[in-house]
Amino acid sequence: MNDNQHRKLKGQTAIVTGASSGIGQAIAVALAESGANVTVNYHSDEAGAKETEARIEAVSGNCILVKGDIGKEHDVNRLFFQTREAFGDLHILISNAGIQKDSPFLEMSYADWDAVIKTNLYGAFMAANAAAKAFVGQELDEEVSKAAGKIVFISSVHDKIPWSGRVNYATSKGGTKMMMQSIAQELAPYKIRVNSISPGAIETPINEDQRDDEEEVRQMLAKIPYGRIGQPEEIGKAVCWLVSDEADYVTGATLYIDGGMTLYPSFGEG
Ligand code: BGC
Repeated sequence: MNDNQHRKLKGQTAIVTGASSGIGQAIAVALAESGANVTVNYHSDEAGAKETEARIEAVSGNCILVKGDIGKEHDVNRLFFQTREAFGDLHILISNAGIQKDSPFLEMSYADWDAVIKTNLYGAFMAANAAAKAFVGQELDEEVSKAAGKIVFISSVHDKIPWSGRVNYATSKGGTKMMMQSIAQELAPYKIRVNSISPGAIETPINEDQRDDEEEVRQMLAKIPYGRIGQPEEIGKAVCWLVSDEADYVTGATLYIDGGMTLYPSFGEG
């Protein structure tokens, strides 16, 4: 890869929500490696955010850390304010922050329903809203990016696969899908591209408990035709492409990165 290709996001600024671990951390590192200035947002895991920072420094990238709860309007506003203060214009939002609080529907508390919808859906709405407002208020510089702004929602295969015992999570992701498409339709005339990446089983803290149990791993792998769990870096690379000018004609799309999990694997034998 030549340096131009390597630093294809040079001069751009990105916010990654929930970037202290897992997929968010890998995305922040990948964007920084591609030349973008990155705001690493984290909720409470300061050690994780510092690890993201160290990994970004190791690839000669540039970042700031901003603590904040993406489900709270005040924190979201501060996140955008601090980013613009540090780096100027904003070009990319990766709405990644997400949580799971699983329980059977019959036992699900309102609090667990609320917490997941608040972070995964309200949070994604508020961040996207703040990003879009920033994008329309800026001057487009086609030397830096052909689009006026790019938003990527990190959704899930559960924006189309129903998931018992996780109605709060699956609802938040199904909602994200329709939100992404409606925003993409509305913002295309402003040259703002809006897309989703929907990962399947990726090796991150969110499914650590599932991966600790041999029987659960066997069940997980049975749902993945490609026969392995994915790595966070595989999402990071796809994000870098999706927000680059190479994908300038892509908007309103969902890219499933799931080793075939969405292919109804139980039908694999006819
Ligand atoms: C969930 C993981 C799960 C994966 C595949 C993700 O959205 O967060 O816990 O392993 O979907 O079911």
